[in-house]
Amino acid sequence: MNHDLSNSKSQTSTHLTVPIWIIALMLTLIFLGGVYFDHHSGWFDAKVYGPYQSAGQLAAYQPLSGEAAIVAHGKQVYEINCGTCHGPDGMGMPGKAPPLAGSEWVNAKGFHRLVEIPQLGLNGTITVKGQPMNFPTGMAAVGSAMSDADLAAILTYIRASWGNNADAVTADDVKAVRASVGGHHAIDGDVELKTIPE
Ligand code: HEC
Repeated sequence: MNHDLSNSKSQTSTHLTVPIWIIALMLTLIFLGGVYFDHHSGWFDAKVYGPYQSAGQLAAYQPLSGEAAIVAHGKQVYEINCGTCHGPDGMGMPGKAPPLAGSEWVNAKGFHRLVEIPQLGLNGTITVKGQPMNFPTGMAAVGSAMSDADLAAILTYIRASWGNNADAVTADDVKAVRASVGGHHAIDGDVELKTIPE
């Protein structure tokens, strides 16, 4: 057997030795790649890479404009300030508050009475959807500390939701009514509400 054949092979392999600086460079690049991945990958979280399950979800995420934006804002402010009593669905709650869905006060042509209710508060017997009701606690002036824009957004929202269908209320409308009522006491039920121009 001739063992000389292996000689030339081993000589070639010594030429393939990788210089130490290349190894160092590769390790550095792998390390920097890891750091970059850590900061930018979101660890392949589904929320980062596939946040929308449908075109509808993507559409719902687009910024709204005009009245749609006001209604969306009104919904938020309503749920915090009014929905606790009147219900997130506007159906009212037994012993707590009458319904706003289908209410003749909410759907009134004008907005004067509707601005005055949260601005001043309401006591005494009130007829809603044709039914006389009386909530012993009444309703405090829960809207009196709100901005004109927030109260307008709430009223616009409740007039456009749950089957209600009445015109939007603007911040200027709210401002004008507020300027006209001053420090009036809480409204006394149907009887006094009806003395206010619609
Ligand atoms: C603490 C509970 C409570 C909160 C919060 C509240 N309400 Fe009321 N609301 C009532 C009660 C109780 C009545 C009925 C008062 C009465 O018996 O005279 C009422 C009556 C009304 C009415 C007239 C009756 C009807 O059903 O249409 C409107 C309109 C109304 N509320 C709107 C609002 C709006 C808008 C907000 C938020 C800015 C709000 N309420 C927050 C308890 C509440």
